[in-house]
Amino acid sequence: MSPPAPLLAVSGLWKSYAAPVLLEVGFDLRAGEVHALVGENGAGKSTLARIMAGLTTADAGHLTLRGQPYAPRSKADAERHGVRMVMQELNLIGNLTVAESIFIERLPHRWGWIDYARLERDTRAVLARVGLAELDPGRLVKTLGVGQQQLVEIAAGLSRQCDVLILDEPTAALTDPEIERLFAQIAQLKAAGTGIVYISHRLEEIQQIGDRVSVLRDGRMVATRATAGLTLEAMVRLMVGRDLGEVIHRVSRPPGPVALRVEGLRCKPLVQDVSFSLHQGEILGFAGLMGSGRTETMRAIFAADRPEAGALFLRGSDRPTRVRSPREAVRHGLALLTENRKEQGLWLPLPIRANVTLMCLQQLSRFGGWLQPGLELDQARHWTGKLAVRSAGLEQAVRELSGGNQQKVVIARWLFRNCDILIFDEPTRGIDVGAKFEIYRLLNDLANQGKAILMVSSDLKELLGLCDRIAVMSAGRIAAVFARGEWTQDNIMTAALSGYLKETVA
Ligand SMILES: Nc1ncnc2c1ncn2[C@@H]1O[C@H](COP(=O)(O)OP(=O)(O)OP(=O)(O)O)[C@@H](O)[C@H]1O
Ligand SMILES: [Mg+2]
Repeated sequence: MSPPAPLLAVSGLWKSYAAPVLLEVGFDLRAGEVHALVGENGAGKSTLARIMAGLTTADAGHLTLRGQPYAPRSKADAERHGVRMVMQELNLIGNLTVAESIFIERLPHRWGWIDYARLERDTRAVLARVGLAELDPGRLVKTLGVGQQQLVEIAAGLSRQCDVLILDEPTAALTDPEIERLFAQIAQLKAAGTGIVYISHRLEEIQQIGDRVSVLRDGRMVATRATAGLTLEAMVRLMVGRDLGEVIHRVSRPPGPVALRVEGLRCKPLVQDVSFSLHQGEILGFAGLMGSGRTETMRAIFAADRPEAGALFLRGSDRPTRVRSPREAVRHGLALLTENRKEQGLWLPLPIRANVTLMCLQQLSRFGGWLQPGLELDQARHWTGKLAVRSAGLEQAVRELSGGNQQKVVIARWLFRNCDILIFDEPTRGIDVGAKFEIYRLLNDLANQGKAILMVSSDLKELLGLCDRIAVMSAGRIAAVFARGEWTQDNIMTAALSGYLKETVA
């Protein structure tokens, strides 16, 4: 039997910006399959997806859709042909409501008036598909966390008829139950004959739902394989062209003195009452379900949100330190890498160098306020090199970097500042497997040098490998703290759920 004709096919695709990004790329998608696309940060995945979805044009090459030549001139044009993309970066407009952002292009109306009752009904139906049945369609998008924003965007993508759906890292900000729900939706679409292009750095996911996987390396398509029978190791080898070093397994050392003690922190609505201590030379992980208050706790510590109650004690002091703004937090030696990199204020038009160094010019200009460009450059080069930021050079505008490489620039900036209490919220989100290990190694080294590190992650394996202790949050409180050796995946999950069980019993 000959294989079914492709729904969407790409051949001989070329695309260059400052340097070539796609070199003679071929790719095809069948109706009713999930075709995964993997590759390191900057390999060209999003660029290929954007060309298929009409967001940018190729320099050369040929596309066909259902056997017919296909050359979308715009996103709207691609959508008219039945090709849709849910983008990697969050693209919702903050000041719209959830309902408006899902139905922005086709608000229901009667006699020229928007039919709000129907809008609300339709929105609830769409949200229910991604498990957000409880979300108020009238909520402003900007008040949602990153994970919920991502779900709203996925819901918007799912809500419209299409033959080809491209998902660019849809699960980067989601937790396991939400991912399962998304997979159920994908299974339904497949059964209805939709072809799905699925871009992700989470290779286990690809094994779970992918039918085939294509691997981009440095802009070339190096392989297309059936996922059945392809091991994770084989996939990684195809991606990075080598075996990865061994998995990081932190060797805990006796903890140093207390670097940060948090007492009775409360920040409505999600942080109820949080107390813990973090030691020098320690990596303390924060596990928990989405909405358990982890991100909000970190933001409250850093005064990015204003807490209603609670005290911070720094470096063993028994007098609380008042931190009223992020600026003050930085002055006290705290750093916060937030989960939302758009909010981190990357200056997109400015070069990488400036983005890494701009915020601490005082540090660089020791001599009477004079800037020392040489020193600045050395430092920027050091940290971007350590993180293997893939770019055309330090002078390249951050806007032109791939998503994962932008994330690395944010990390480089914080490391450059040399703070001694580092808070990382989802530091490896959107980062490829090879680079993830670099970041683990780096965090491990920083802790060994005596830095105190708080790390929020939805990737439990990452916490298990890297942390000295894991605090588990549930319903705005710390439900349990486990030391290395005391934890199991089961007791962590039980703790993560415990706060919610109590609520229903009460
Ligand atoms: N507008 C642009 N101008 C210049 N270079 C660009 C532009 N857009 C993308 N690039 C370059 O193209 C390359 C591929 O980027 P792309 O976003 O496709 O990577 P990716 O595989 O999606 O990576 P990630 O996993 O980090 O999302 C990168 O090196 C990036 O710097
Ligand atoms: Mg990308």
